[in-house]
Amino acid sequence: MLQTAIEAAQRAGQVIAARYLDPHHVTVKGYRDIVTEADAAAETVILNLIRERFPQHAILSEEAGGDELDADCLWVVDPIDGTTNYAHRIPIFCVSIAVLQAGQPVLGVIHDPMRDQTFVAERGRGAWRDGAPIHASRVETLAHTVVGVDWGHKDEVRAQILDYVQRVAPHCGTVRALGSAALALAYVAAGWLDAYFHLGLKPWDVAAAMLLIAEAGGRCTTIQGEPFHVNLPGCLATNGLLHQDLLTALGTAKAAD
Ligand code: IPD
Ligand code: CA
Ligand code: CA
Repeated sequence: MLQTAIEAAQRAGQVIAARYLDPHHVTVKGYRDIVTEADAAAETVILNLIRERFPQHAILSEEAGGDELDADCLWVVDPIDGTTNYAHRIPIFCVSIAVLQAGQPVLGVIHDPMRDQTFVAERGRGAWRDGAPIHASRVETLAHTVVGVDWGHKDEVRAQILDYVQRVAPHCGTVRALGSAALALAYVAAGWLDAYFHLGLKPWDVAAAMLLIAEAGGRCTTIQGEPFHVNLPGCLATNGLLHQDLLTALGTAKAAD
């Protein structure tokens, strides 16, 4: 399954990268939510390979839809995470593929086609970038952190995120909104960002990334510090060492698990 996930993500990445500078066919599918012809083309490549190799498995993919999260062996696919960046030629986007068993990710692959970087995690075995083990950062002081965030689509979600940014920004090194939740979360796993939070996530944004973070020694909870699940929209991901300080800065802590 892992080999198939890597192959599918990299093949889709080639499709995406090949037409990156071409004119795109952009369709508005929701409020502040767009999709391009490349999303569909990449998704077809991924789903065809999964169906060919694992015809019995369930699939949930952003554009094609599909099965429920509690399905037995479920592939969760985001063919392009960061479509707004892609459509604007901002070269920050990725392909995200995970496999869930009993609702928990057992493998995750995030591929960045512009930098040709592939982040991989297997439950209980670790996390790697292009074959080299990765680890969340070891920064312990908020003042030295780079914290990632994204804005979400809905007005009320965006307003809440802005409020949290206002609370956190005075205490940390700086804040970055990359525009690809999955790639930013992979960067937390790789130790390139120290933390990340979002309140408007979907399962395909976070399924692969949450395993990468756990396997790389980081920590993922809800924004209140409670256990995170792939179906929850709000997530605080950190290197673990900064988790409590960030919950305090956010002013959201309900319980430290
Ligand atoms: C979006 C990106 C973005 C995040 C949005 C997601 P998409 O995914 O991850 O960074 O802020 O909430 O929907 O639509 O490009 O796959
Ligand atoms: Ca996405
Ligand atoms: Ca997408």
